[in-house]
Amino acid sequence: MNILVIGSGGREHALVWKIRKSPLVKEIYCATGNAGTGEIAVNIDISPEDIVGLKNFAIANRIDLTVVGPELPLSLGLADEFLKSGLFVVGPIQGAAEIESSKVFSKLIMREAGIPTADFEVFDDVYEAEKYVMSADRPLVVKADGLAQGKGVFPCLNKGEAIAAVNAIMKEGMFGQAGRRIVIEEFLEGEEVSFMGITDGEYFVPFATSQDHKRAYDNDEGPNTGGMGAYSPARILMTDEQEKVISDIINPLLKKLGEKGRPYRGFLYAGLMIKDGKPYVLEFNARMGDPETQPLMVRMKSDIVPLLMGASQGNLKGQTALWDESFAVCVVMTAQGYPGSYRKGMEISGLGQFRDRDDIVIFHAGTRRESDKIVTNGGRVLGVTAVDKNPEKAIEKAYSAVSSVHFDGSFFRRDIGKRVLKR
Ligand code: AMP
Ligand code: GLY
Repeated sequence: MNILVIGSGGREHALVWKIRKSPLVKEIYCATGNAGTGEIAVNIDISPEDIVGLKNFAIANRIDLTVVGPELPLSLGLADEFLKSGLFVVGPIQGAAEIESSKVFSKLIMREAGIPTADFEVFDDVYEAEKYVMSADRPLVVKADGLAQGKGVFPCLNKGEAIAAVNAIMKEGMFGQAGRRIVIEEFLEGEEVSFMGITDGEYFVPFATSQDHKRAYDNDEGPNTGGMGAYSPARILMTDEQEKVISDIINPLLKKLGEKGRPYRGFLYAGLMIKDGKPYVLEFNARMGDPETQPLMVRMKSDIVPLLMGASQGNLKGQTALWDESFAVCVVMTAQGYPGSYRKGMEISGLGQFRDRDDIVIFHAGTRRESDKIVTNGGRVLGVTAVDKNPEKAIEKAYSAVSSVHFDGSFFRRDIGKRVLKR
């Protein structure tokens, strides 16, 4: 069969890498891909937002299945458009993708379905929002309703910070229409874990747990980023607790979406905060996490393609995903300046030596081939991923690989995975 993967980040390289291992697959295309996907798939130059262009490509090239990496094409209705033409797709329809593209929708559906989440209120009036902040007696988190590239969330320790966040979003319009409405919610203390899986709307196949490192600098300091590294398993949500997450969080969400005429199919990501041993949902994403996908894919033992087909065709029942017992860690190497402004086009050296290794895989994110060179092409450049039975060794391997890959101004956190060693 022929598969089209949409996106160009580390997550998409990891998905393509895993799909490539399936004996069921002939051709893989990636739109638009990066230098890494270009080595194992055919990159095509159609933007993830060009839904009609992608659909026409899928029809012309007899694509059996399209796998959507990022949220933007889903929020623009890619799945709806593909389904109309009888094309199979992994990713929810626009109405179901709103669990990510609208924080207001997401919080309201959680309230309706009785899913544990931080207490919250919704505002579309700046004065009402300010009044609420002034009367609150606890730390708050202020969130823009719409997609804001991970920058729309402001954890606020005091009223001054919360007022400033409300003003930035609603008065100054820093996210445009995405900030027309806001959610203000209770600040939850605890430990975060990423819980992902794949669903056909009725059956949910859980994936192994993982943890992200969202802040730019060591010890979780500095600005938020798309993710500076991840590891799996997270070792804070045990098997019986995962079953509870499915029965108390995932299944009620799927049921409620179905009742609303927005059946959900595709990858589903719950960002959880574990507080006093109990999971609360911070957010749902209508996709896999990046960089969490990178350690997950190197640990997944099952062929991923039957899972993808099952989710898109509505017959996941009876399927499971099996995981290697080992520990996997991904260290993200970024361009200097990320998550602020950064340069592109720096030559990357040292990639070749890991090509035949199974225990060290370098996933590309912002990279591009330029004749016989590979150069940087984004803020997050590479996801250096290593596996080992022993977490300490996995981390050591990842960092020794990081130290033998070079580009001008490369930056990375030095403490990825270290949390696990303390546990
Ligand atoms: P979100 O995009 O809603 O997951 O928020 C991004 C990040 O902000 C999360 O991964 C958390 O680190 C933090 N965050 C979001 N909501 C809360 C909350 N209610 N309490 C504490 N931290 C939060
Ligand atoms: N790594 C967090 C996310 O993909 O949303």
